[in-house]
Amino acid sequence: MLTIKEKIAEIKKKIDEALANVKFTKSLYEIKMKFMGKGGEVSDLSKSMRDVAPEDRPEVGKQINELRCWADGKFGELDEKLKAEELERKYAEEKIDVTMPVRESAEGAYHPNTLIRNELVSVFSGMGFEVFEGPEIENDYYNFTALNTPKDHPARDMQDTFYLSNDLLLRTQTSAGQIRVMENKKPPIKILSPGKVYRSDDDATHSPMFSQMEGLVVDRGITLCDLKGMLDEFAKKIFGEDVKTRLRPSYFPFTEPSVEVDVSCFECGGKGCRLCKGTGWIEVLGAGMVNRRVLQGCGIDPDEYTGFAFGMGIERIAMLKYGINNMKLLFEGDVRFLKQFKD
Ligand code: PHE
Repeated sequence: MLTIKEKIAEIKKKIDEALANVKFTKSLYEIKMKFMGKGGEVSDLSKSMRDVAPEDRPEVGKQINELRCWADGKFGELDEKLKAEELERKYAEEKIDVTMPVRESAEGAYHPNTLIRNELVSVFSGMGFEVFEGPEIENDYYNFTALNTPKDHPARDMQDTFYLSNDLLLRTQTSAGQIRVMENKKPPIKILSPGKVYRSDDDATHSPMFSQMEGLVVDRGITLCDLKGMLDEFAKKIFGEDVKTRLRPSYFPFTEPSVEVDVSCFECGGKGCRLCKGTGWIEVLGAGMVNRRVLQGCGIDPDEYTGFAFGMGIERIAMLKYGINNMKLLFEGDVRFLKQFKD
């Protein structure tokens, strides 16, 4: 039989051996449990105190205690060392090289149409306009009849229409939205209506689908002067502070009088250049005073209220502003073209 002293020495030796090759705190913990935990060799040693003669117990107890302290110290020390090593390894693995070049991510850009649309909405909402978006599939009434363009009206030929059925069509103009607004809202009305429109038309400056921005103001005492004043403001904000506007007589069934609006050429300042084809002026939109018959049809008394309306092609404004010579570029979705546009 080994004496307690010998047993202690043996356990110490075993612990030393067990700890010699430990690399991870997890295995260290397992070893610790094996010796110090319930049923472990050190705990068993304490249990064997029962068999020790009463007079020897204080001395033996002291020796067992010393063993515990010694073992706790060993495990504790090694635990700290291994933890530090593990942390080092973790840091090394997760190390980030901040000098490494970043992976280039493709940066998106707004489509020129969106840029112009946003700019127009921002300019006009600054003047108190609210945005209204009508449907792209319209019926004959909203797109034509209510806009004073009945079935046999020659002005229907001004726009080649895509019909979906006898009555349904792809709207040819955002003006259709004017009627929807006036039917539902009584003056004062001040709305801006952007959206896609469709016409059977296809060349360098026309596309079967394009975008328009419509404006409508109806209130007591609205005159052509108000339209002119608002257009001056619009031209300055969109094309530049020195840009002027001029009105030329024109014809639209739903406005009377009707005008074509030109802005002075922002490229040459009006002297005449390629952009303005030597005239010093560039046509940008159609407008006019809302025809009495249109107001009447929407239940608005034309003797009490008057209004003006205007409509412009967003692609046209984008082409003028950014110097784009072919409208197709705006619809092809070529990223090399599109990413050149930033606000
Ligand atoms: N709807 C007309 C067009 O598409 C433009 C316009 C709008 C003219 C409002 C006058 C008033 O050509």
